[in-house]
Amino acid sequence: VETIDILTGSKQYPIYIGKGASAYLPDVLRTEVKNHSAIFIISDSNVAPLYLDTIKEMLPEERVHQWVVPAGEPSKSIREYEKILSFALSKKLDRKTVIIALGGGVVGDLAGFAAATLLRGVRFIQMPTTLLAHDSSVGGKVGINHPIGKNLIGAFYQPEAVLYDLDFLESMSVKEWRSGFAEIIKGALIRDDELFRFLTDRVQQLPIENEGTLLHAIFNAINIKAGIVQEDEHESGVRAHLNFGHTLGHAIEAESRFQNISHGEAVLIGMLFAFRLSEQLYQKRLMPENLIPWIKRLGYSISHPSLAKPELLLERMKQDKKNENKQIRMVVLKSIAKVETRTVTDERLLKELKDFHSWTKQCESS
Ligand SMILES: NC(=O)c1ccc[n+]([C@@H]2O[C@H](COP(=O)([O-])OP(=O)(O)OC[C@H]3O[C@@H](n4cnc5c(N)ncnc54)[C@H](O)[C@@H]3O)[C@@H](O)[C@H]2O)c1
Ligand SMILES: [Zn+2]
Repeated sequence: VETIDILTGSKQYPIYIGKGASAYLPDVLRTEVKNHSAIFIISDSNVAPLYLDTIKEMLPEERVHQWVVPAGEPSKSIREYEKILSFALSKKLDRKTVIIALGGGVVGDLAGFAAATLLRGVRFIQMPTTLLAHDSSVGGKVGINHPIGKNLIGAFYQPEAVLYDLDFLESMSVKEWRSGFAEIIKGALIRDDELFRFLTDRVQQLPIENEGTLLHAIFNAINIKAGIVQEDEHESGVRAHLNFGHTLGHAIEAESRFQNISHGEAVLIGMLFAFRLSEQLYQKRLMPENLIPWIKRLGYSISHPSLAKPELLLERMKQDKKNENKQIRMVVLKSIAKVETRTVTDERLLKELKDFHSWTKQCESS
């Protein structure tokens, strides 16, 4: 098991990563969450039947409560949030309660927001169970969705510790592997060309079966994210780089009504667009020769039906909350592992989106 210490302006906490890392829970509770009065585990309907009992068996001496939300993004809602708080308050949980978020990014964001706001804040521990949750477990962003948009209600709130047990990933679907792995590729592309080479060399199929390869990929991806958020805890500057591939990715997700395509799969297409746009802006070749065949081998789609409607995508991209003065800000590549943000005009983007659409069709058929 590897450890990464995360330093933020407000606190320091450890992330334990590896097969069997969840076995550290009793120790972590004793050392990182001293004097807690009760434990409140929040999980979802897919994860709870698989892992909740094992976790509870590790805590025989403790006062343990649990709440299970339906699996899926719709649970990041005001309604589910209210139910959690009502349950906690009816059980008279006090300020010394520790919340454990056992699940993917949905549970992490929701349980983290409950922890941030219950009685003005109780301590919490993250136990991520998806590959994508390597991303959501670092950076302290917690929150829920509003019918008007995703993640519009939330806080910056750091956990006491993160226990990332890689054994959990074994039950994940291939689609979820692709979703999480896209964010690892993203981390490599914005900050770490060595990791990018490592991934293209070593990962030839998903799921990743080699334990060493998986640990190396996740460890480095977490370090990249940690480095960026430590530099920029409240998202003013370089943290925007994490948005690489996301401007178009979010638009594709929204156009598909969050069905059929996962977050990471959409971001992957967004990254390819960012590559193509960067090549036009800097007038040089940036995409490695082997990238497209590799992406395909891993089972990703290069194209998406929504690309046939560039005007609609552009409208969606303009709604991105990271824009300034209505101009779309894109994270672009100067070279692999070197990115910057640029505002790009609507006309330009529309033209590039059209070109991109025909390029993706070509790639898919070749
Ligand atoms: N806070 C942040 O910084 C941050 C960063 C990235 C993403 N997010 C959020 O994370 C969410 C997406 O996270 P996600 O992809 O983990 O989604 P998720 O939590 O919905 O998990 C995906 C699916 O896999 C299931 N699952 C989870 N773990 C499993 C396991 N071990 N075995 C079998 N099935 C399992 C879940 O029940 C769900 O159906 C989004 O809401 C996104 O906004 C937050
Ligand atoms: Zn993302």
